[in-house]
Amino acid sequence: MKLSLLFRGRRVYRTAVLLKNNYSVSAARNSTALLYRNHGEPSQVVQLESLVSPQMGPDSVLVKMLAAPINPSDLNMIQGTYAILPELPAVGGNEGVGEVVEVGVEVKTLKAGDRVIPRDAGTGTWRTAAVLKADDLVTLPKDIPVLSAATLGVNPCTAFRMLTDFEELKPGDTVIQNAANSGVGQAVVQIAAAKGIQTVNVVRDRPDLQQLSDRLTALGATHVVTEEKLRRPEMKELFKSCPRPKLALNGVGGKSATEMLRHLQNGGSMVTYGGMAKQPVTVPVSALIFKDVKIRGFWVTRWKRDNKHDEDALRSMLDELCVLIRAGKLTAPACTEVRLQDFRKALENAMKPYVSTKQVFVM
Ligand SMILES: NC(=O)c1ccc[n+]([C@@H]2O[C@H](COP(=O)([O-])OP(=O)(O)OC[C@H]3O[C@@H](n4cnc5c(N)ncnc54)[C@H](OP(=O)(O)O)[C@@H]3O)[C@@H](O)[C@H]2O)c1
Repeated sequence: MKLSLLFRGRRVYRTAVLLKNNYSVSAARNSTALLYRNHGEPSQVVQLESLVSPQMGPDSVLVKMLAAPINPSDLNMIQGTYAILPELPAVGGNEGVGEVVEVGVEVKTLKAGDRVIPRDAGTGTWRTAAVLKADDLVTLPKDIPVLSAATLGVNPCTAFRMLTDFEELKPGDTVIQNAANSGVGQAVVQIAAAKGIQTVNVVRDRPDLQQLSDRLTALGATHVVTEEKLRRPEMKELFKSCPRPKLALNGVGGKSATEMLRHLQNGGSMVTYGGMAKQPVTVPVSALIFKDVKIRGFWVTRWKRDNKHDEDALRSMLDELCVLIRAGKLTAPACTEVRLQDFRKALENAMKPYVSTKQVFVM
């Protein structure tokens, strides 16, 4: 498929063979976008550019983007280290919410004014507008706050699936997780609390630990512990007040994952979904032999692709999450709103440790 982009007045034609065909037509019509031509340090290789795209096709829609977060996977894509990489040049960002402005003549599923999020990764959401395939978008109700909608498709969906698909959890059961203050972690806390599931939430120590602990507790966290405490004998005391976890959710790897395993129930599961420490997961032999723990992995992109033809699977999950949002039981993660123009600072902040807030572009 031909992609025609106008980069600073220079017309470039490319044959696009990207993650999904949507990307090839997704260059915005007269939009401003955060684009990268080479892999590297995000704040260095990303540029703010004007893009002009070809006319809409009969199955396309013109979407005005409203907000889009910076997630770790966006940064890894720009660095060139992620499992899927778009052909370059590419627009950054894999999730976000937009409003449909115009629909192609054959589009029956969407209309002007609808709120939409991408169905899959690779859309390039850091831009003011985009022409996208209608089939590559999913609608969200308009009463969902913009920041919640912009951050719904990746982290809360990951949290929801991990709490649903690996262990049969009942009210009163316990889940342990590290990176508990991450976007995924905050969603795990809230979705678990809404289901009556207790959570042991592991965070890294920091000067404002009490403030962070109070914030997670207000979201519904049962216990908040530091990585250091996780290794100490006093954890035995904690498990006198709640059962040992059936499920451990690992977004960090390294020692943190090994320590969580020590607290898992016999036969429980540890699901690895992220590797923020960039360290492999080491599983003690005893955990396998004497506890028969299950070591699993989860990737929401694979889940979405596996369930691509089951319209109800994604819809029913989003509906359930929207019910929680409306009931005030699932909020957007703590966010810092930034303009596209301030992208360099935002990209730098997104890579800093102990920030506890997600950078979200608001267009
Ligand atoms: N598999 C999937 O389908 C899937 C879906 C969504 C997300 N993810 C992955 O899940 C992870 C979290 O994503 P997110 O959007 O929720 O992240 P986020 O909101 O940006 O938060 C990043 C988290 O990582 C922690 N962290 C950073 N460096 C760390 C280190 N060296 N050791 C321990 N913790 C560290 C941060 O803790 P501090 O506050 O202490 O810095 C924070 O809790 C990422 O790896 C992401 O790629 C995977």
